[in-house]
Amino acid sequence: MVDWYPPEAYGRLAADIQEVLLTADEVQRRVRELGEAISRDYVGLNPLLVGVLKGITIFMADLLRAITIPVEVDFIAVSSYSAETRNKGVVRLVKDLETPIAGRHVLFVEDVIDTGLSLNYLLRTLQARGPASLEVCVLFNKPKHRLIDIPLKYKGMDLPDRFVVGYGLDYREHYRNLPFVGVLKPEALHTATEG
Ligand code: IMP
Ligand code: MG
Repeated sequence: MVDWYPPEAYGRLAADIQEVLLTADEVQRRVRELGEAISRDYVGLNPLLVGVLKGITIFMADLLRAITIPVEVDFIAVSSYSAETRNKGVVRLVKDLETPIAGRHVLFVEDVIDTGLSLNYLLRTLQARGPASLEVCVLFNKPKHRLIDIPLKYKGMDLPDRFVVGYGLDYREHYRNLPFVGVLKPEALHTATEG
């Protein structure tokens, strides 16, 4: 087990956290289990793990190392068009996959699913390219606001309907480097990027 820094070591970042929902050990243990399940299910299939930059980098790095079979990885990057299209989950691909996925076993890896709108849009885009299979592995599931039912082959854990940071999840690009998951103090929600 990796010996993570304690929360206090993260100084100002940790001081902004009101409550830790998942410790670094709890997250790591679950990631390990997901890797074991994927290794069993995809043996002989050379799966391609696909993630959306940038939040996924932390989970993807740990998940890859918990997978013990041959596996490949690729990334996409997206940006929202406008407030109006964002509500429909429509996103613009600003970086596409480098890997052709026709005939490949693709596992879409997500850090968090809330409404499911953006994920649904991306899955339809990938499905149109004719993969042999297309499944989803999500670490943090927030079922409360789900607008679209998406089958989740692998699910890390359910989270309450609260805005959380850490383990790749950001607030205005900060807190991704925290190895645990926590809720921000209300006062941190506006000042986090100042100074
Ligand atoms: P949705 O499922 O289309 O609503 O969008 C999920 C996206 O919203 C994720 O990929 C995150 O970028 C962001 N997101 C949702 N919940 C949180 C959170 O609690 N903290 C940080 N980002 C979040
Ligand atoms: Mg994301």
